[in-house]
Amino acid sequence: MIESIFNHRSIRKYKSIALEKELLDFVLLAATRASTTGNMQLYSIVVTQDQDVKEQLLGCHFNQEMVKEAPVVLTFCADINRFNKWCEISKAKPAYDNFLFFFTAAIDALLAAQNACIAAEEKELGICYLGTTIYLADKIIEVLSLPKGVVPITTVVMGYPDEKPGLTDRLPLKAIVHDDCYKDYSDQLIRELFAEKENMDLYKDFIKENEVETLAQVFTEKRYKKSDNLHFSNAFLQVIEKQGFMNNE
Ligand SMILES: Cc1cc2nc3c(=O)[nH]c(=O)nc-3n(C[C@H](O)[C@H](O)[C@H](O)COP(=O)(O)O)c2cc1C
Repeated sequence: MIESIFNHRSIRKYKSIALEKELLDFVLLAATRASTTGNMQLYSIVVTQDQDVKEQLLGCHFNQEMVKEAPVVLTFCADINRFNKWCEISKAKPAYDNFLFFFTAAIDALLAAQNACIAAEEKELGICYLGTTIYLADKIIEVLSLPKGVVPITTVVMGYPDEKPGLTDRLPLKAIVHDDCYKDYSDQLIRELFAEKENMDLYKDFIKENEVETLAQVFTEKRYKKSDNLHFSNAFLQVIEKQGFMNNE
């Protein structure tokens, strides 16, 4: 298992082979063994294998082809609906229609997702997360018929890999880890920590292709730019509210 963690790479091309039910159930069961707040399990997993539904999801993920090519698409959702219903039939007043519990449920959903990914990779399946889930969450809610109290948090496509990309780079451990307390970065240290990344041919090509001056500008001006971030932030806040997580009373 440790070996699978260190060999992780996102897979974006899949063989058109369905997953055996037993294998899929193993992955889903592994997801449910993740820790959750108070063991409340405030999440649901929508398992999409139907080609028509996958085609409908495709547009919700900016047409990333792997959505229709991977045999399985898992949408991990923050879910207070099931727990609320249990409270309501048990003479208990649910208290979870607020932002704290949106975030709590989202954490539960993400931990379950990562457990599923690790289990899948251990069984030599490929996975790729789709962050697009929170960009067009309103559309996903429609396609998957998610009721009030349920918000899609992340999507994982899964299947037998049809490619073996190289491992991607990571910042050095000393960039990520702070001993005892957080120590803020000097400009010099930031330069040092990002130097290896900036010197990689792959990223030098990114800079050329995007016609910018620095690698950081690829992120700020092309891939994740402010106007998009503001637009999708507002859209997602509206979704959270519409799904009943912003009750301040
Ligand atoms: C929350 C999240 C959202 C992601 N969204 C996408 C996506 O929409 N499309 C995609 O191709 N990869 C997506 N990825 C995969 C990342 O690009 C990938 O993890 C990163 O480049 C590191 O590469 P590796 O996973 O191969 O190590 C996402 C990963 C995470 C964790």
